[in-house]
Amino acid sequence: SDPVRLGIAGLGTVGAGVVKIVTKRAETLAARAGRPIQITAVSARTRDKDRGVDLSPFAWEDDPVALAARDDVDLVVELVGGDSGPAKSTVEAAIANGKDVVTANKALLALHGQALAEAAEAKGLCLRFEAAVAGGIPCVKALTEGLAGNRIERVMGVMNGTCNYILTRMEDAGLPYDTVFAEANALGYLEADPTLDVGGIDAGHKLALLASIAYGTRVDFEGVKLEGIERVSIADIRHAADMGFKVKLLGVAQMTGRGLEARMSPCLVPASSPLGQLDGATNMVVLEGDAVGRIVMRGAGAGEGPTASAVLADIMEIARGTRLSTFGQPASTLKAGTRAHSGGP
Ligand code: HSE
Repeated sequence: SDPVRLGIAGLGTVGAGVVKIVTKRAETLAARAGRPIQITAVSARTRDKDRGVDLSPFAWEDDPVALAARDDVDLVVELVGGDSGPAKSTVEAAIANGKDVVTANKALLALHGQALAEAAEAKGLCLRFEAAVAGGIPCVKALTEGLAGNRIERVMGVMNGTCNYILTRMEDAGLPYDTVFAEANALGYLEADPTLDVGGIDAGHKLALLASIAYGTRVDFEGVKLEGIERVSIADIRHAADMGFKVKLLGVAQMTGRGLEARMSPCLVPASSPLGQLDGATNMVVLEGDAVGRIVMRGAGAGEGPTASAVLADIMEIARGTRLSTFGQPASTLKAGTRAHSGGP
């Protein structure tokens, strides 16, 4: 049957990872999808750069918006990054040109997901984002598909590996925040704007997206109460340890009588709990449903393989013809998140 023809916009770590999997696993993917998955065109800022992949079989576009308009592309994979500019124009162009979209862009969806999902769904297109939340952990599909029969009671998670690395190193090595921050920077963990990581913004974007699916509410990043890890001291971590706790940048979203409450902040968790034992640049997502009970998923929240794995999950879903709404129900039916304005801390 007809192939799915991919246009990949952005060839950083994740884009190269997607090219590798689509290339090396072509036969298996075709068997699983019931149709071939092919890359027809790619786009990035520079063509001549060793990415460890052969780009010669693919058409090249300097401009990702042009890639999104090509007749030989059915599905645009947006891996450009950023909450505006070329990433946003590329997704908008793809939808305008009748292409399905798969993106790893948490910031773009946290700020513009409602409008983009409505635009896609109005044209019968799919806009999917498994890779945007907790990298390789398939938490978006867990909520939209595996747990579709549940009333979700709580969504929790450590969703920024960099912050978890910094907090873990502070505790294990007894090093101050500034030293460990410099170390994380040297390891290349930090986003181009490190405030996105240590200010809790990146993790807040991810929590806002999961909350929307879990509770059928419009994506409300502004409604997430945010506190980063910049002010966490070694003394805080030691005092917590003395009482049997760890400090984690933890997100919690739950529906209360006053509406959706979503918070991403440094929290004390029991050292012996799954969250307390989560060390290093790792993520954990905890989902609680009325029928299923509690589910704990742990894995890599970033990096080439894990993030490409999640991108492939969306590509395969679309290739198989499963036409799912972005947030698990039509975007036009999502309710306002009735923000809870409590006076307390
Ligand atoms: N900066 C993010 C993290 C990358 O550290 O988790 C993955 O979104």
